[in-house]
Amino acid sequence: MTRVAPRDANESFHHNEPARAQLGGSLAFSREAAMALAQFLEQLDTLAAEATAAMQAANDNEALEAARVEFLGAKAGRLKAAQKQMGAIDKADKPTAGKQFNQVKQQVQAALEQAQQRLAAASTAQCTTAQFDPTLPGKRIRLGKLHPITQTIEELMDIMGRLGFSVADGPEIEDEWHNFEALNIPLEHPARDPLDNFYLATAEQAAGDDAPQMLLRSQTSTVQIRVMENTPPPVRIISLGRVYRPDTADATHYPMFHQIEGLMVDTRVTLADLKSVLRLFATSYLGSDVHVRFRPSFFPFTEPSVEADFHWDDQWVEFGGAGMVDPNVLRAVGYDPEQVTGFAFGLGVERLCMRRHGITDIREFYKNDVRFLQQF
Ligand code: DAH
Repeated sequence: MTRVAPRDANESFHHNEPARAQLGGSLAFSREAAMALAQFLEQLDTLAAEATAAMQAANDNEALEAARVEFLGAKAGRLKAAQKQMGAIDKADKPTAGKQFNQVKQQVQAALEQAQQRLAAASTAQCTTAQFDPTLPGKRIRLGKLHPITQTIEELMDIMGRLGFSVADGPEIEDEWHNFEALNIPLEHPARDPLDNFYLATAEQAAGDDAPQMLLRSQTSTVQIRVMENTPPPVRIISLGRVYRPDTADATHYPMFHQIEGLMVDTRVTLADLKSVLRLFATSYLGSDVHVRFRPSFFPFTEPSVEADFHWDDQWVEFGGAGMVDPNVLRAVGYDPEQVTGFAFGLGVERLCMRRHGITDIREFYKNDVRFLQQF
């Protein structure tokens, strides 16, 4: 028996020859060498270091596969060879050697996985950059634009701002005081007819008797009152916004449209100031020297009242109402009509925009047809 064992060891030595060479060739399988645990461990260290370095150095999948086969190959891999060589280690040292071997194997496998992830990430990155070819002709993406009415409003604010008017704002849901009473439109006035206004049934009204009757404002003149109630004269404001009237939509009417309201109150403001301001305004907006014509008219909140026409393209075009603020209105907001006077005007924003761009149907603004909207 004692003679057989060395022969067996020898046989296994021969059998493992190639693997031993790969491991570094320094493991000997004689009885003395079989005890050299320290040497085996050292070899494992070297193997781990070389394997990790090879995996890290792999620049493509082929190189990584080659490294995997070299170190982790199931038949002739260097780890497999090391595992086989463990058979020659002294029995007492085997647990230590085995434990270390397993650790190294895990370490090498981890290095392989890391390298695989690294290459996968790199190839995705390469794909996405490769898909962007800066030499291909570009495709134009149409950018969104502001609605023509919004553009008009911004331009009107800009023009009036240069004339010293600041922008004031008011609510679209108004009470009757601001929409009518304070504007010298008494209860029996036909302008308050329910057929001409969007009166609202509010929850507050349903809950109690005292709640004020509310409506969608029918004119931006409401903002004049709100401003004067809160500001002592002098006042120089414009207000731009939506107004609502139950009109049937046609080429020139729409149940919602926009107005620009102007108000200037100071000592000694006259109708001549109004005409000058409107003419500067019309000339700035419509682009050439626009003449302004006043025709006598009536509004409850102005006295005298006028219709303002602009001369444009050899025609007189009606743009809106204007006049000197009625003393009753000044009194309603606590101003003294003996001390201050003022002018006011209210023009349709759609009408201005349509005139400038040659638009013939107000309904176009609110159809949301991009073929129309993208022209502005
Ligand atoms: N609020 C009037 C309307 O909606 C327009 C108007 C006329 C406004 C005369 C004014 C004004 O400020 O003075 O028809």
